Amino acid sequence: MSLAALKAHADRLGGASLRDIVDGRGPALSDWVFSAAGIELDLTKQRLDPDALASLLGAADALELAHHRDTLLSGGIVNPTEGRPALHMAYREGAKISGTDAADLVARTQAQTREFAQAVRSGTYQPSGKAITRVVNIGIGGSDLGPRLIADALAEFADGGPEMRFVASLDPSDLRLAVDGADPETLLFIVASKSFSTQETLMGAEAARAWLSAHVPADRLGGHFAAASAAPQKAAAFGIPAKRVFDFPDWVGGRYSVWSAVGLSLEIGLGPDVFAAFRAGAQQMDQHFASAPLAENLPVLKGLVDAWNRVALGYPSRCVAAYSARLGKLADYLQQLEMESLGKSVTLDGAPAPTAGGALVWGGAGTEIQHSFFQWLHQGKDVVPVDFIGVKRHFASADARERALAANMAAQGAALLDGRQLSEADEGELASHKSMPGGRPSAMLLLDDLNPQTLGALIALHEHKVFVEGVVYGINPYDQWGVELGKVLTTGILKGETKEYDASTKALLDRTDFGSR
Ligand code: F6P
Repeated sequence: MSLAALKAHADRLGGASLRDIVDGRGPALSDWVFSAAGIELDLTKQRLDPDALASLLGAADALELAHHRDTLLSGGIVNPTEGRPALHMAYREGAKISGTDAADLVARTQAQTREFAQAVRSGTYQPSGKAITRVVNIGIGGSDLGPRLIADALAEFADGGPEMRFVASLDPSDLRLAVDGADPETLLFIVASKSFSTQETLMGAEAARAWLSAHVPADRLGGHFAAASAAPQKAAAFGIPAKRVFDFPDWVGGRYSVWSAVGLSLEIGLGPDVFAAFRAGAQQMDQHFASAPLAENLPVLKGLVDAWNRVALGYPSRCVAAYSARLGKLADYLQQLEMESLGKSVTLDGAPAPTAGGALVWGGAGTEIQHSFFQWLHQGKDVVPVDFIGVKRHFASADARERALAANMAAQGAALLDGRQLSEADEGELASHKSMPGGRPSAMLLLDDLNPQTLGALIALHEHKVFVEGVVYGINPYDQWGVELGKVLTTGILKGETKEYDASTKALLDRTDFGSR
């Protein structure tokens, strides 16, 4: 991305009144609102004007963004450090996949998980002579955050399926609470792990098996376990019966895997039709991403605007404010999707990256967050662009609470934009304390309503905008080598092999008598 051109725009717009930029849009204001797949992207409150946006789109063309997009969608190698495509889109409902092998594999695994989900939901699958009443997904990272978000977001669409619970932590209380109150003979554990080598997940699965073996005879134990993994042999070696090991290809990245067998807990808990609608919503966004001109393309525009805020305007973080209790886990999900993808400092060919990678992503659910960190957003020194994610139906809802939810969301965007300057005359010595700088940009993503289809589209939009940012920064958004050292050092500590470790860590282990039980 030619920083020079953008720098000039950033210098020009950086110090300008954001209110003037926004009101200055005049009749062209609606040109900054874009829609696709039941989602509306409102960029009217961004610190951007037509010239700067044109320059951003020009930079995207210079980077051949459309060509890179087509390479991604056609299964080209976009993850060179692992020599893989990133074809998670293949699992979307109705996806047209080039290459018969991939298509066959996806069709086979989708048919297998759907059939098993129906058997569990219908109560015909009875490993201990009783229908399953609760599925417990044991997984972490991409094998947890997606299913956990979707289960929560679509809880009201689950028509009578088994309960869904999630175990990710090594903290034993996580498993205890997940099985609490359930008849052990009606539990199904799903061990979700792409690599099937993640410590937390394997220790969690072993603990679940040990716990269950106190309640279910050994010959029926295996019936209470299923697995979702790109390493089916390891799952089978762990003792999961092969017919309940649901595999997926390694070209589905962990943090992009909720669409695959990793979504099995959802297919069981929410039902195959709800899960299919979720996948279909994502496919609608894929079609939009694939075909819409860049200047009207939601993932492209969102990716470019986030890069503009991060690189040109130098805002280090972005706050995700989801105005629905059902989207309380969205920020957690986006943290992994974006930060594990874009937290890189070297380019595709290993050279130091010329720009900062992706932003620090954080957030929570509104209006609860208004009563926690919004004080910091309004009066703190740091400027943090905010993404308001809400439901369009709420604005005209008959329910006063839903209307109030929408009103709060709109008001917070206006307050961040405008701030308020109070004079001594009005407020005396409190004037400066009560004044708010304003000039803080925000975007709004409005779902027509929160349902499986729009949620699928929202997730796919973010997956693709991450890809766009990856192209802009020149980095590989699909690997995550930076997570390995911590795992290696953990293994060393568990084995007591800490001779080479730093003095502080060794002292901590000594002081705490680590492993001395
Ligand atoms: O440690 C990071 C990570 O590898 C993520 O990329 C992944 O989503 C998570 O751990 C879990 O990995 P797996 O699904 O292989 O157990």
